[in-house]
Amino acid sequence: MTPAPAVEIRNLVKEFIDPRTKSAVRAVNDIDLEIREGEFFAMLGPSGCGKTTTLRVIAGFEDPDSGELLLSGRSMRGIPSFHRPVNTVFQDYALFPHMTVIQNVMFGMRMARVPAAEARARAGEALEMVRLPNVERRKPLQLSGGQRQRVALARALVNRPSVLLLDEPLGALDLKLRRAMQFELKRLQQQVGITFVFVTHDQEEALTMADRIAVMNMGEVLQVGRPEDIYERPSGRFVADFIGETNFLPGVLEAKSGSEGRVRLADGTVLTGAVRDPDLVVGNGVALALRPEKLVVENVTADAPPDLQPGQSTLPGRVTGATYLGTDARYQVEVAGGVTVVARVQNQQHGFSGMLAEGTPVRLSWATEHGSVLA
Ligand SMILES: Nc1ncnc2c1ncn2[C@@H]1O[C@H](COP(=O)(O)OP(=O)(O)OP(=O)(O)O)[C@@H](O)[C@H]1O
Ligand SMILES: [Mg+2]
Repeated sequence: MTPAPAVEIRNLVKEFIDPRTKSAVRAVNDIDLEIREGEFFAMLGPSGCGKTTTLRVIAGFEDPDSGELLLSGRSMRGIPSFHRPVNTVFQDYALFPHMTVIQNVMFGMRMARVPAAEARARAGEALEMVRLPNVERRKPLQLSGGQRQRVALARALVNRPSVLLLDEPLGALDLKLRRAMQFELKRLQQQVGITFVFVTHDQEEALTMADRIAVMNMGEVLQVGRPEDIYERPSGRFVADFIGETNFLPGVLEAKSGSEGRVRLADGTVLTGAVRDPDLVVGNGVALALRPEKLVVENVTADAPPDLQPGQSTLPGRVTGATYLGTDARYQVEVAGGVTVVARVQNQQHGFSGMLAEGTPVRLSWATEHGSVLA
């Protein structure tokens, strides 16, 4: 028998009353989620999409209007937050400023009347786990942002929750520290084996750390999958646009057969792409989505480019912008219909002497399967 999911959400709805208009705002609009035991799960979406609300329902700080929440198969209906096997790390850490580091970490255990010696030992262990030795007697204001973050983590881990909820825990850190902490958090999660539910609006952060990601928008879950599923096979335009950079070539779905669709662009060009949404209707407006790094840019005025391999697609265009970025070059290429397509080309030669000048006529090509037909 497969074990029950660590977190299971069914048809969850949560509304708030807008204090100004007195009308109901649907913060979470009928979502379903299954988070597996030991998984590093990210909830990713723009500001206001309902991430914190979902987390607060799991933690028991909010009651849902309808729907079910189960933790390890057990319904949480009527179970107060302090009796749930979860702990939360908040964005602002919410440390007690007048307490020292060790007092902060021991606070929950003191409330739960854990014997002093045991509490002391567990707190020391937790601080070691987050790699924060020798600051036990300091107060939060005497710590750096990254150190405060670690104290908050230690405080949450010390209770040995089965699920740890993290609400944008790295938001206050600068980029470099953020990257270091992403790595640390991942290591920590693997070490302790606790289920992590990590909320972020930073797509790179979600891709870096998560085993699976739920992409949310306007109170709904649009797609759940591994980072590579979400990036390579987005289910719709919002996901493709929110995760990474994407070109959208607007057109009409002319035909579809199996997992392939033919898109007629405004100028009459017909391109083929992968169809993953069975609800796409022939005759409707769609977009062919192409990632900039999947495109090959070839100068057609120099030597004639080689013949296309089978399974490749192509579009003629003209370079309208070229930016040298060190690791790669970013080209803007105008194609039929006046649409600008962005292509990224890796810098494999010293000095990138091969940069194409503005105005150069080029051929864009890509493996046909890399084009996604999206509603
Ligand atoms: N207590 C509340 N009263 C009224 N509206 C609320 C309340 N809490 C949240 N909302 C509204 O519910 C929606 C979702 O809010 P939520 O805090 O869950 O978003 P979020 O995804 O966490 O956003 P962010 O990335 O900005 O933290 C928003 O429209 C928000 O204004
Ligand atoms: Mg939030």
